[in-house]
Formats: sequence, structure tokens, C-alpha cells
Amino acid sequence: MKEISDRRSIRKYKEDAVNKADIEIILKAGILAPSAKNRQPWKYYVYAGSEKNKLLECMESGLVRERDGNKLLPNSQNGLPDAFNTLRIMKEAPILIIIENTNGLYPYSEIDADNRVTEICDTLSIGASVQNILLTATELGYGTLWIANTCFAYDELVNFIDIKGQLVGAISLGVLNEVPNQRPRKEFDEVVEFR
Ligand SMILES: Cc1cc2nc3c(=O)[nH]c(=O)nc-3n(C[C@H](O)[C@H](O)[C@H](O)COP(=O)(O)O)c2cc1C
Repeated sequence: MKEISDRRSIRKYKEDAVNKADIEIILKAGILAPSAKNRQPWKYYVYAGSEKNKLLECMESGLVRERDGNKLLPNSQNGLPDAFNTLRIMKEAPILIIIENTNGLYPYSEIDADNRVTEICDTLSIGASVQNILLTATELGYGTLWIANTCFAYDELVNFIDIKGQLVGAISLGVLNEVPNQRPRKEFDEVVEFR
């Protein structure tokens, strides 16, 4: 598929709006993904305009709290500059899609083995769904960025969005304003073994 090799993480967007019909096509591709036991553990929240601005104000206050106050991820502080950069990208993109694992648990507390296995399966299912979304957006000529840096502002975002499950991340979507080269990949022989 051409879209697999054409897709890039896009970090610069034009102001152009994305029409709702296209967003629906893109998300309908997401819900066609396979899922463990067909649990379909995903839910998507589409943010634009002033609601997106309010959401990102919450994320910003979470990142500032993570930098200057109580830390959810004290061992990942070196990832914070990248998270602030991701926030800038999220502000620029006209559409932000929040990804929820509806079965997911709070990620900052202990988890037993049964729940971990279930969570791995549900997270993989959501990954398949997100990839369908990215590829369909690429096919329609849009740019996307898959975002996990929401994790630093987890509590603020979950509270604002009113998520009962687990916040997995987000996808920014819009008309691209850059055409990056393909990012480096590991050598085929390094990641594949024929036995
Ligand atoms: C689960 C996941 C989370 C990611 N989170 C972020 C993020 O928060 N911010 C960001 O700028 N890029 C993020 N990325 C994009 C990766 O950096 C990117 O996919 C990788 O560098 C390869 O580049 P490519 O997507 O253009 O092939 C994420 C990608 C994945 C799959």
C-alpha cells in the first residue's frame, strides 16, 4: 500500500479546516481494525476550535506541574522538552483526536498479571485502530501525528475530558505544511530472523 510508505509524522500544519465528512471516513477506518476478543476497546473524542484550546490549556498546566511541582513520571523528566514541543504542534493542528482505552486502568498504580495481559491486548488493538486512522488520513491527503506525550498531563486531561477508562494518547490531524523525508529505520536483518 502506497500510504504505508508515504505516511510521515507531521509536525507543521496549515490553518485550513478539516471537513467533518473526512473525519468520519478516517475514524470509520479506525473502528474496522481487529481487536482482542473483538472487545473494540477504543473511544475517540474529536476536539477543534475553542474546546481544543481549553483542552490544551489543561495539558499545558499539567506539563508545568510536571516540571515545577508534583511529578507523575519523575524518571522521565528528560522527555519534558519534547512534550512541550508536542503541545506546540497540537496547538497548530486544527483537529485533535483523543484516544481512550475504555477498559484501561489508571496507569500510575500497580497492576496484576491478569490485568496487564488484558491491557497489552487492548493496547495492541488500539494501535491497530490508530494505524488505520493514520493511513486513511494519509490517503485523503492529510497529515497526522501520533502522540503519547499526553502522559505527563494525565490527571489534568482525564479530568477535563471526563474519561472513565484510560487515556492512551492523541492524534493531531490537519493539512500538512511540511513534507519530511522518511525517518531512518533499523536494517531489515536486524529486526527479522528467518529460522
Ligand atoms: C505510540 C507513539 C507515540 C508517539 N508520541 C509522539 C509524541 O508525543 N510527540 C511526537 O512529536 N511524536 C510522537 N510519535 C511519533 C514518532 O516520533 C514517529 O513515529 C517516529 O519518529 C518515526 O517517524 P515517522 O512517523 O515519520 O515514520 C509517536 C509515535 C508513536 C507510535
